[in-house]
Amino acid sequence: MRRKWVIGNWKMNGSTRDVLDWALRAGQLAASEACTVGVAPAAIHVTMALGAADKSLLVGAQDCAAVTNGARTGEISAEMLVEAGCHFVLVGHSERRQYWHETDALVARKFKRAQEAGVTPVLCIGETRDERERGVTEDVLRRQVAAVIELCGIEAFAAAAIAYEPVWAIGTGLTATPEQAQAVHAFIRGELFKDAAMLAGSLRILYGGSVKGNNAAELFAQADIDGGLIGGASLVPDEFATICRAAAR
Ligand code: PGA
Repeated sequence: MRRKWVIGNWKMNGSTRDVLDWALRAGQLAASEACTVGVAPAAIHVTMALGAADKSLLVGAQDCAAVTNGARTGEISAEMLVEAGCHFVLVGHSERRQYWHETDALVARKFKRAQEAGVTPVLCIGETRDERERGVTEDVLRRQVAAVIELCGIEAFAAAAIAYEPVWAIGTGLTATPEQAQAVHAFIRGELFKDAAMLAGSLRILYGGSVKGNNAAELFAQADIDGGLIGGASLVPDEFATICRAAAR
């Protein structure tokens, strides 16, 4: 049985005061609920969140550089994240792919760098609305995962997680139905990882995209959905608590 993970992706949100409050509340959930709870604050808030929260809360970053320490103004390296105490790092979030034009190859290099430095990558993948309408969802996901497999080998996923986030569902209020999401998760586990059956069985695949307190339970009840990556709803502590409770059932 894969223990469920619920990760709040706070994106570029929160004042110092908000972060202290959210981290404290998330830490209480991590300590009391039968699921693993994590949060990804903006990088500048990571240390503060770690200091404020119960030690059972996983704290991660939203991105990392694809290279080691050196002349890359504005970047944050994976080793810096490790030193700060990060447990995981999101790589390839669709907002990074869209606004920073991150390619599959670059995302794969970030994934590799994170693992080499000792922080768990959470690989975000997902199709756009146009890609879904054109019927190429599976091709897109295959390509996004293949870039990492080519660079790191399939066994690298033994120490990683995947977040399936259909781009059309992120921040839009449109959620994939539980059946739609389950079909894609089953494809990822059964098809993209068919050459590594043992690993596929333990691979954690989170769903993300407009998960809320009122749809989380149905999504998390699906056989291949191992929790969620939560954006907007993670900024509302009571809502986030409802989602964590749905995962702990
Ligand atoms: P959302 O964001 O829950 O606001 O749709 C999810 C994400 O981008 O990780």
